[in-house]
Amino acid sequence: MKRGKFITFEGIDGAGKSTHIAGVSTLIRAHGQVVVSTREPGGTPLGEKLRELLLHEPMHLETEAMLMFAARREHLAKLIEPALARGDWVVCDRFSDATYAYQGGGRGLDKAKFEVLEQWVHGHLQPDLTFLFDLPPAVAEDRITAQQRELDRFEQEHRDFHARVRRAYLDRAASSAGRICIINADQPLNIIKKQVEEILLTHCL
Ligand code: TYD
Repeated sequence: MKRGKFITFEGIDGAGKSTHIAGVSTLIRAHGQVVVSTREPGGTPLGEKLRELLLHEPMHLETEAMLMFAARREHLAKLIEPALARGDWVVCDRFSDATYAYQGGGRGLDKAKFEVLEQWVHGHLQPDLTFLFDLPPAVAEDRITAQQRELDRFEQEHRDFHARVRRAYLDRAASSAGRICIINADQPLNIIKKQVEEILLTHCL
């Protein structure tokens, strides 16, 4: 059985990645593959409980980082690894790049700690392809404000926090050896959709 592909989506809050995740899943299905669409933190019953805590409960910064990896371990064991082994494709809204960007860049934790946890949790597995939706934090902030909904702990952070998250994502893309594809998310939806589809066709389908 051929292992499925693992595709992840990243970006600062308000980058608009959710809209494109559905489109990517549809395109992959049109090519005859079974798609499992999931998210982090979350994706399993326990992971979703941890998500609720992570997004709303104040906690120590290192607790936050470790819970992200704990939820990820559960996610990999219960959902991602079995799906890939069956030959299904997994499309995931955020993965470990988000920990490097948010807990590393945003919170300022030492990334050497994540390298240890990453090796422990998924030393054998990396995404085959990652889309990084990039845009200025001020534009993202306007989009979130326009939605007029209650904000989670990360969305409530100051613009400087999101600027550091963005910087960390871009640094990671620069050293990712082609795995992370940067999409300019400050463009009309149809243009972004076309770029995402082209990258997917070139890299994976
Ligand atoms: P998000 O993916 O933006 O979900 P929604 O589109 O429903 O708002 O929310 C998840 C939040 O969790 C986001 O603000 C980033 C944060 N996060 C981290 O800080 N570290 C991580 O490792 C992950 C996976 C997410």
